[in-house]
Amino acid sequence: MLETTIDSEMNFLRPQFDQDLGKGRGVYISTYGCQMNVNDTERMYSLLEMANFSVVQTPQEASIIIINACSIREKPVHKVYSEVGTYRKLKEKNPDIKIGVGGCVGQQEKDKLMKTQPMIDFVFGTDNIDTLPTLVAEAYNTGAKLVDAKFAHKAPYHVETLVRNPGISTFVNITKGCDNFCSFCIVPFTRGREKSRPINHILMDIRTLVNRGVKEVTLLGQNVNSYESEGGIDFADLLKAVATQTDIQRVRYTTPHPKDFNDKLFNVLADHQDKIGEYAHMPVQSGNSRILQRMNRGYTREEYVEKINRMKELIPNLVLSTDIIVGFPGETEEEFQDTMSLVHEVGFETIYAYVYSPRPFTKAAEFTDQVPEDVKSERLNRLFDSHEAMAFPLAKKYEGQVLNVLVEKINDQGKAQGRSTQNKLVYFMGSESLIGQTVPVKVTQAFPNTIRGELVL
Ligand code: SAH
Ligand code: SF4
Ligand code: F3S
Repeated sequence: MLETTIDSEMNFLRPQFDQDLGKGRGVYISTYGCQMNVNDTERMYSLLEMANFSVVQTPQEASIIIINACSIREKPVHKVYSEVGTYRKLKEKNPDIKIGVGGCVGQQEKDKLMKTQPMIDFVFGTDNIDTLPTLVAEAYNTGAKLVDAKFAHKAPYHVETLVRNPGISTFVNITKGCDNFCSFCIVPFTRGREKSRPINHILMDIRTLVNRGVKEVTLLGQNVNSYESEGGIDFADLLKAVATQTDIQRVRYTTPHPKDFNDKLFNVLADHQDKIGEYAHMPVQSGNSRILQRMNRGYTREEYVEKINRMKELIPNLVLSTDIIVGFPGETEEEFQDTMSLVHEVGFETIYAYVYSPRPFTKAAEFTDQVPEDVKSERLNRLFDSHEAMAFPLAKKYEGQVLNVLVEKINDQGKAQGRSTQNKLVYFMGSESLIGQTVPVKVTQAFPNTIRGELVL
């Protein structure tokens, strides 16, 4: 893009473009991965703004380019390497640009990145975000290549929420790290040991956000429902406290683990449906108990289904979504069929499914019975086809219903946009004055991922 702007005849429109490179204080962050990474990017921007940098919309305008990357599967890691390659040309034009890599890839590939990518100036880990302004200053002042990726294993998890313009809906970290060591998953190695923030810090953050106009918070963690605070406070207690001791309109949470749902939590979810909603994401990964055991998930198919049924009993309009991995090592066709049948048995309205990707350090990567790539992709396609056939009729039930929608914004097409209590994205004709309000919307057309409706006056 830089080439086309500079070499094109439009060049006269941006006379200072080339000169400004690397000399301004623009920062651009390219973000991949889960909501945790999205929220970490916001933290990085906030910290760098405090250090007098300004956020720019394109890498071409930036003096600092950061890739905040995800390593959950192999593909996004490759993207980091190719993205660094695309920034090479910018840096050749202006060697003052600093390029950094953070997030789970920074944590995992720190040494390799430094060794193989001479364009990279600094790498930082998931526990080192708060040192970013110092790291950047050092990179500029010394010109040295820097790595800051040590886990703060012993430090308590005290991170006040940093968000520049929270809008209507924002994130609040409650736990970090994961101790579950599912045999396929790299997260325990990229995010370190599990820690929880003290409940008082979380409640204080939410109250401050409410004063700043926030109506909805999403509580974030790799495994939110194993949350623990002083005095034996657990996730159910935290959710209840957020619902009853703050003025937030809606609370969401991600990602929970099925093994850490219990009756106490189900009751809190049911008692506070008005705030917590009628929606749950329950990542199952597989519908076969032998595979679940090999995955080290800590539940069987039957235990999972039992928990789902309990939840459905307590929350009659419950909408469910899940994560699935197909082609886990050793998965036979019959075992894959168990996943297909579970999807139908539970009636998930949304599934996030992936082919198994072997990850460094993980147990499953060592298993000798890996499933061939073509079999994995064929299973994934079959799963999506089969789910789609179910999801369209499932969505139709919303047509004619009135949903309570928290309006988040007016989108590019001029439509009001928000989410219902069942976490459905709803669009309708509405004015800006509705932003931040919960309004009744009658559904005119419903598809699995979008719903169109009309404001009920
Ligand atoms: N903590 C969440 C998962 C976070 S990772 C949980 O326990 O469910 C998000 C999703 O990525 C996982 O649910 C899983 O479906 C997928 N995933 C994780 N590791 C993977 C791998 N090695 N290959 C393919 N998908 C993977
Ligand atoms: Fe990964 Fe399992 Fe932890 Fe989820 S619970 S982050 S899948 S190790
Ligand atoms: Fe990816 Fe790390 Fe999140 S690996 S999914 S960015 S925790």
